[in-house]
Amino acid sequence: MHFFRLASVFSLALVAVAQDISIRAVKRAFNAANIPNDLDIVFRPTALLEVSLPQAAGAPITLHAGIQVPRNDTAGPPVFRVVGDVGHGPFVVATVDPDAPTPQAPTEAQIRHFLGGNFFNEGGRLVNSTPAISEFLQPTPPAGSDAHRYIFLLFDQSPQFAHQTLVNATTSIALFNISQFASAADLGNPLAGTFMLVAPEPDA
Ligand SMILES: *[C@@H]1O[C@H](CO)[C@@H](O)[C@H](O)[C@H]1NC(C)=O
Ligand SMILES: *[C@@H]1O[C@H](CO)[C@@H](O)[C@H](O)[C@H]1NC(C)=O
Ligand SMILES: *[C@@H]1O[C@H](CO)[C@@H](O)[C@H](O)[C@H]1NC(C)=O
Repeated sequence: MHFFRLASVFSLALVAVAQDISIRAVKRAFNAANIPNDLDIVFRPTALLEVSLPQAAGAPITLHAGIQVPRNDTAGPPVFRVVGDVGHGPFVVATVDPDAPTPQAPTEAQIRHFLGGNFFNEGGRLVNSTPAISEFLQPTPPAGSDAHRYIFLLFDQSPQFAHQTLVNATTSIALFNISQFASAADLGNPLAGTFMLVAPEPDA
């Protein structure tokens, strides 16, 4: 009896460290990391965005908001899932680094690490069959920098998204502004999000 109770507490704890399970906890983590201010976004999530990084060996790493991931484990490309009642889509997923080249002097921020549309919710898995505007770029914070925040956001895709002219596959990924983009493409506020911290390789 006692053993089973302990075992289930233990497995709950494992789930808690492995992925986001509480929208409120994600919102708190975003606020604690000053992300809504730094990105000029209103972050009132109604769902969870699950981001998993496949690994060359072993199980994928599934993010929880604020997790630090070794740079070498971030090659991706990430697999996205949504937990919550957000409908079938389409959706846009964006990933930005507001800390480039350093959090203290982010003169190149934001770096656009991913921007893709036409994601559909298929039983929780976010599936897209069209190329992203910006395919996933592995985090590479420069030597000497503190860890950067890599922020993943899920938006409802507007009809205007297909007609936006701010960015395309050849547009510089530096000096991106997700709030300006969301406003230009009429995406509204993000439905969900999460983030990870990645520091330079120890030998970088
Ligand atoms: C980094 O990743 C590569 C390829 O996945 C692997 O071969 C290598 O052993 C890793 N290095 C470290 C220090 O984990
Ligand atoms: C891509 O966007 C850039 C501005 O970032 C623009 O100069 C260029 O004409 C666009 N290319 C296409 C094919 O639309
Ligand atoms: C991004 O765009 C918003 C307008 O949507 C603006 O208020 C903000 O200052 C911009 N941020 C940066 C870093 O330029």
